[in-house]
Amino acid sequence: MIQSSSNPLHHLITLEGLSKIQLFDILDLAESLHKNPENLSKYQSKIAAHHVMVSLFFEPSTRTRLSFELAAKRCGINTLIFDSDTASTQKGECLLDTFQTLEAMGCTLFVVRHAEAGIVATLANHAQSQTVLINAGDGDRAHPTQGLLDAYTIRQHKGSDFTQRSVLIVGDIIHSRVAQSNLHALRTLGVPDIRFCGPSSLLPKSNIEGVRLFDSLDEALKDVDVIMTLRVQKERFVDQTAIPNEQTYAKHFGLTAQRLKHAEPNALVMHPGPINRGVEIESEVADGAQSVILQQVNNGVYVRMAVMLKLLCS
Ligand code: CP
Repeated sequence: MIQSSSNPLHHLITLEGLSKIQLFDILDLAESLHKNPENLSKYQSKIAAHHVMVSLFFEPSTRTRLSFELAAKRCGINTLIFDSDTASTQKGECLLDTFQTLEAMGCTLFVVRHAEAGIVATLANHAQSQTVLINAGDGDRAHPTQGLLDAYTIRQHKGSDFTQRSVLIVGDIIHSRVAQSNLHALRTLGVPDIRFCGPSSLLPKSNIEGVRLFDSLDEALKDVDVIMTLRVQKERFVDQTAIPNEQTYAKHFGLTAQRLKHAEPNALVMHPGPINRGVEIESEVADGAQSVILQQVNNGVYVRMAVMLKLLCS
């Protein structure tokens, strides 16, 4: 297994296969850094001075890239900016050559986002022993730090007993690495009621163990206490007619204040961002009292600090 030969983790490629203890270890460290910022100094002194982080992003990002950079700065890790628009990949250099070039310069921590599923695992197979890789989203495969920050946010509001949770993920499930990583985390943490809802063209074609599929949002919302809405990722559509149009999609699968009444009264409303307001969620709900969307963003910084510290200090 490339991710971790055993405990401790070496890279973070996916949440699949991580134990409940490993997940809670990261969430606990993030919480400790969040509640007691002075705890950071214990770890900062353990990070070797030579570490340099580079964010290799080949897809757009606001939250993930900048929160990794902020997290690295807070941890005292040097960072390098890589701009895929002006890099030599534009002249035909392949990703592996770019990666090994940066390793040769002394970069040791790579945060990678790319459209190709599995690419971060491939880089890990070619990495030098001191190199650490974090997957910041590979195609539709995985977005592990998003899964972790979502679990952190659920725990922050609903407590540590995930066996009491009922979680609905709504929208473009088949193209969503966020849905994948959340599924891996929620299962491992013991959530007994996981639901996916969306148009049949955006739902998995076959049943997934432990997940109930719904094509009616009103039905799917009944009694859930966590609702994760997802962006429709048209950039990943093979068939551009997978949804008729955004208005029709919003009519059937958009989360409105009226629909939200079907869920538990204190249900959390989540979204990984970026939001298409008025499509998967209306502004009244995205900005409403039950929304924790900006808290997800804030929590992401602490979770990413915790991930980096776990990988670099273990
Ligand atoms: N949630 C998320 O990955 O957002 P960005 O694409 O802005 O990084």
